Amino acid sequence: MKLAVILGTRPQIIELAPVIHALHRDDHQVIIYHSGQHYDREMSAVFIKQLGIPEPDKTFSPASGTHAEQTARIMVEIERACMDDRPDKVILEGDTNTALAAGLAAVKLKIPIVHIEAGCRIHNKSLPEEVNRILISHMATTHCSPTSTCTENLHKEGITNVNQTGHPVVDSIELVKDKLTPIHKPGSYYYSTIHRDFNTDDPARLQEIITQLEHLDKPVYLAAHPRTAERLNKFKIDTNNINIIPPIDYIGSLSMIKYSYAVISDSGGLQKESTILGTPMITIRPNTEWPETLAFNANQLAISDDNLVLLQCVKYLNTNYHRIKSNAKKLVDVLGRPGTSEVIAKCV
Ligand code: UD1
Repeated sequence: MKLAVILGTRPQIIELAPVIHALHRDDHQVIIYHSGQHYDREMSAVFIKQLGIPEPDKTFSPASGTHAEQTARIMVEIERACMDDRPDKVILEGDTNTALAAGLAAVKLKIPIVHIEAGCRIHNKSLPEEVNRILISHMATTHCSPTSTCTENLHKEGITNVNQTGHPVVDSIELVKDKLTPIHKPGSYYYSTIHRDFNTDDPARLQEIITQLEHLDKPVYLAAHPRTAERLNKFKIDTNNINIIPPIDYIGSLSMIKYSYAVISDSGGLQKESTILGTPMITIRPNTEWPETLAFNANQLAISDDNLVLLQCVKYLNTNYHRIKSNAKKLVDVLGRPGTSEVIAKCV
């Protein structure tokens, strides 16, 4: 088949890479469109290189701006590309504006949509990604769900033809796992990332996060997303007591996760990766689309009743560290076992 794989953000490049490899192994003709949603080298090109996928066949101009501006621009570009190339199917991953825009363009051209990471829900539409996920599910024809919770979420919305495949990020990690090496002394630091708008765009919340990070008992390395770096600067927030570092490549980021004492982040991707690598996690969100990761408190939610409770989570972690760390190892395959991308390729 002629398949258009649509990516555009850092997590989509990471999570679609093993699927692209599997589709090639199955002798499909794969065309890659890059939406331009993430355009900096360290947010995009470096992942394409490390995960060994071909350069995109078409890369659209950088797409930032408001949600409507970004979605609309990508939608027009994808429609044009699909009209030119006429793929048999399009393959989307996740819940980004890139995936929503591509879905809207494809469904109206009557091109069947395969959706990977189908069925994640937090049951709260205040997160833009939740709206995107629901809409994509109701446009897609093939649904590849990572977990039984995701499958049940789809069933509750009346979508019954679900393939429970596991999550391709399991295979993304397999692609590079032999290259992971400690960058700092193992167990001696916290690895952190923050990029969600509800954390970065409210000056008081961002200040509070930085203040609590500064009060931790070990050094913090915070890899700043471009938006976070821009907001810290704009709000003149002093970060002298933590180490702000630029976004890290994939091998570097997985190495930081694997050898950290714990990960502190609002990222969906890091919740998955820390679970697969067996590292305790604290999530700076009130909810998660990955409830399996919360077992044994291996992942703790650090926003409760709109208050940041990071220091309480760290205290709990310190008191129970060995138990949490050994129980976390029981969760390493909650998102599937290696080979998920082969299973997904067979569903296409
Ligand atoms: C997007 C996804 C989010 C995912 C995240 C991973 C949506 C709605 N959200 O959020 O689900 O977790 O990607 O990072 O699609 N910017 C740059 N250079 C870049 C990329 C972004 O400077 O290479 C800046 C732009 O000013 C942009 C802002 O960062 O406006 C936010 O980027 P955007 O792609 O809109 O959203 P993310 O927060 O990355």
